[in-house]
Amino acid sequence: MKIIMLGAPGAGKGTQAKMLADQYGIPHISTGDIFRANIKAGTELGTKAKTYMDQGLLVPDELVCDLVVDRVQQEDCAKGYILDGFPRTIPQAEALDQALEALGQKIDYAVNVEVPDANIVKRMGGRRACVNCGGTYHVEYLPTKVEGICDRCGGELILRDDDKPETVQKRLNVYHAQTQPLIDYYTAKGALVEVDGTQDIQKVFDDIVEILSK
Ligand code: AP5
Ligand code: MG
Repeated sequence: MKIIMLGAPGAGKGTQAKMLADQYGIPHISTGDIFRANIKAGTELGTKAKTYMDQGLLVPDELVCDLVVDRVQQEDCAKGYILDGFPRTIPQAEALDQALEALGQKIDYAVNVEVPDANIVKRMGGRRACVNCGGTYHVEYLPTKVEGICDRCGGELILRDDDKPETVQKRLNVYHAQTQPLIDYYTAKGALVEVDGTQDIQKVFDDIVEILSK
């Protein structure tokens, strides 16, 4: 099963993608996590990406597309995968479709997790992210067993640099201008499914699984 997670920053794409990856036994591929791992490792890609990410802007398409197209051809993706945070622009979606077409494959579902902007700003300040595995928590809605430590891998939890309120607003603006058009794109392909992302985490997950099992 090949799934794309769509939705605004903070809509819960990463949270749901991780749960779906466990459910279906397929990898969760988050471009944001890949960039953050590169920033942490001090790679050239990380240095380039950081300048855009810290401003709430998208990293240029040419730094993202090849990376994802290579990743989805690795062996662990043979049964499918969940893309989280990619594609984020129409050119990225077209690059992905072209690459998949050449492999005789296609995206099965684009899951749009819908959350109004007002809820999002409230969520972001409470988010904590694992520097090691990318696991995402929330001080109120999804707390860890031990404060500051990832339940999955024991890594350190941080407040992301781009979760400051003014940067969140900028990311929302960028989302509406550059990423929201993908909803029409995947509707036209018959792949779009919608879920109410304002419900609690487990209910959102149950709704997605129900839709995908039809
Ligand atoms: P990325 O890491 O993808 O960030 P994003 O899209 O802004 O999304 P987030 O990770 O902030 O939110 P999410 O939807 O995953 O929500 P989460 O599950 O964490 O990208 C970061 C940056 O990298 C971009 O700005 C860009 O610069 C660059 N980039 C990445 N990919 C790119 C690409 N393809 N092209 C160009 N640039 C790219 O949930 C949020 C919080 O809410 C958590 O604390 C969670 O616990 C909580 N929560 C989740 N669900 C619920 C719920 N139902 N109820 C209550 N709380 C909830
Ligand atoms: Mg995320």
